[in-house]
Amino acid sequence: MPSFANPFQGNVNKKLSKEELIQAVRLDIAGELEAIFMYDAHVQATDDPIAKKVIADIRDEEKAHVGELMTLLKILDPAEAAHFAEGEAEVREMLEAIGAAVPSGGEEAAARAPQTGRSR
Ligand SMILES: [Fe+2]
Repeated sequence: MPSFANPFQGNVNKKLSKEELIQAVRLDIAGELEAIFMYDAHVQATDDPIAKKVIADIRDEEKAHVGELMTLLKILDPAEAAHFAEGEAEVREMLEAIGAAVPSGGEEAAARAPQTGRSR
């Protein structure tokens, strides 16, 4: 949740080390996930069709931000990226073992995603 009481809360008086930057990106990802949760809760909590459409669009933009930040994290920390790949491979093996469809990733998944506005 936002904490506006301290306007300097997020400020740091130095440049981040590589390790600190990686931690900051992890925190940014957590913030995006929290935003998705909150926007989705608001979509579910209203029957106003315009509010549902606008807030759902914003929620989906946050999902794209998670993808951007995850990509950045993988670039900044290739060892962590290897752990992500290991987990993905484990799930793919489980899906194959039960004969379930194995989802494609990356650009194919992006092509299937609904178009949302850009938030910059
Ligand atoms: Fe975002």
